[in-house]
Order: sequence, then structure tokens, then C-alpha cells
Amino acid sequence: MTQTIGFIGSGMIGGALARLAVAAGLNVVMSNSRGPETLADLVAELGEHARAAGREEAAQAGDLVVATVPMSAYDQLPAEALAGRTVIDTLNYYPERDGRIAELDGGDITSSELLQRHLTGSRVVKTLHNMDWIRLYSRARPAGAPDRSALPVAGDDPAAKAEMVRLLDVLGYDAVDIGTLADSWRCEPGTPVYVWPYLGERPEGATKEESQRWFREGPGEPVPADRVKELIDAAVRGPVGGSFAALPFWG
Ligand SMILES: NC(=O)c1ccc[n+]([C@@H]2O[C@H](COP(=O)([O-])OP(=O)(O)OC[C@H]3O[C@@H](n4cnc5c(N)ncnc54)[C@H](OP(=O)(O)O)[C@@H]3O)[C@@H](O)[C@H]2O)c1
Repeated sequence: MTQTIGFIGSGMIGGALARLAVAAGLNVVMSNSRGPETLADLVAELGEHARAAGREEAAQAGDLVVATVPMSAYDQLPAEALAGRTVIDTLNYYPERDGRIAELDGGDITSSELLQRHLTGSRVVKTLHNMDWIRLYSRARPAGAPDRSALPVAGDDPAAKAEMVRLLDVLGYDAVDIGTLADSWRCEPGTPVYVWPYLGERPEGATKEESQRWFREGPGEPVPADRVKELIDAAVRGPVGGSFAALPFWG
């Protein structure tokens, strides 16, 4: 079982996952674009199971490595250092933030296939990308809890997917295997399983400010495995890329 998780990207999602990992007794090695010294506060908060490092070192320190950077930086992930490793892909494509990426706009490949193409020697697994960072932390539950949620998992390597399912269990989530990286369009931004089901109902008629408070403070809602399967089956392949206006904190 995984003992150390490397992180490339230590922002909202990286920070939330690292908190879950250290709470589960795992070690984490955090990295970002600006250098380890800029991660001192986060590492101090995470405690003795955490340290900061450069990207390559974080990549090599982890039994598993979380890639959690903006999609625009996918090709800066250190392919050589990540070779031979299972890489968890939380990346979502937002053209407003990432600029247009022609290969994705064609609609023929998923963002995870593009990442796998860059990380030729790694086993990419898509997961932990379809919940917002606040609920991702707050809705983690121990195995068997009645209000535990499930997350979709997609990947081309069955052993890497199985490893990922075990890690999700330790972090506080059930898993639903939805197929290969080519199938992962079913959980990309804008699909039924993306973010909203885990938030529950937004208060009717909420102003932008009320929506933002609801996003910051709302408890969210459990989404069990059966519901994840239904939502995945209901997906229809549509326009590529997410839109900020369609996100809950936009109001
Ligand atoms: N926020 C959410 O609720 C959410 C939910 C699901 C999925 N996602 C997806 O997960 C990814 C991360 O999102 P986030 O919200 O955590 O972003 P974020 O808060 O902006 O953090 C991004 C992290 O990536 C690092 N980074 C950027 N370019 C890098 C590079 N070239 N090499 C190494 N590290 C680099 C940044 O480091 P510096 O600060 O040093 O630049 C920062 O630590 C995105 O693709 C996003 O779409 C986000």
C-alpha cells in the first residue's frame, strides 16, 4: 500500500488532498512552480508527515504522484522523473484560464489522454477531479459510513486503477470504475457527475453573494456509487472544456 504521495501542485486541490493524506497517516511531499521555500506555511500546517521539495524530487519520492496543476501546465510536468509511476490526474480544461489547446478542442481525445501522451512512461489515472476542493476535504468519510461518497476512476492500466481504488478508500471515498482514459470524457467539466451533485441544492433565488457563501460553507451532499454510475451513464459528449460561469461560486 502507498506510504508516500508526491504532489506536483499544492494549491486548493493539492492542499485538500494532502490534508486527507496526512490525516490517514500517509507521508506527503509537496511541490509547486515557485519552489519549496514558498510552501513552508502549508508544510508546517500539515505537520511531521509533510515536506516540500522541487517538482522532480516530489515526483520521485511518491509511490503515487498527484498531478494537480492548471491544464495549461500539463506539458511542464516532469515526464522523465514520473516514468514508472502511477500519476493521479486531477486536471480539468478551462479555456478561460488555460488558453485554447487545439488537440482538446478537436474533441477526439480527452484531457487525460493528452496528459498520458506527455507522460509516456507513467500510468495515468483520472480521478479526484470532479469535486470542488472544499467538499473534497469535508465530505471524506471512513469506509462503511452511510453518507460516504464515491468518485469515478478511469485509466488504461488495471493495476494502477486498483492501486488508486485502495488509496481512495484510505482517503475517504468509494470508487466507480468508468473505463479507460478515452472514456473519461464522461466525467469532464460540464457532465452530470461534475461538481454539482456533491454540493446539493443551491438555495432557490440566491444572490451571487449568497451563492458564494453557500459554496464556501455548505455541507454538500453524499453521492453514493449507484448515483455516480447513473450520472456517468447519462453523460452526453458535448462541447469541450469547462466554463467558470457554470461553476457554483460564480453565483
Ligand atoms: N479548485 C477546485 O475546486 C478543483 C476541483 C477539481 C479539479 N481541479 C483542477 O485541479 C487542478 C489544480 O486546481 P487548483 O484549484 O488546486 O489550482 P490552484 O489552487 O491554482 O493551484 C495550482 C498549483 O499548481 C502549481 N503549478 C502551476 N504550474 C506549475 C508547474 N508548471 N509546475 C509545478 N507546479 C505548478 C501552482 O504552483 P504556484 O502557486 O507556485 O504557481 C499551485 O501550487 C486544475 O487543473 C483544476 O482545474 C480544481
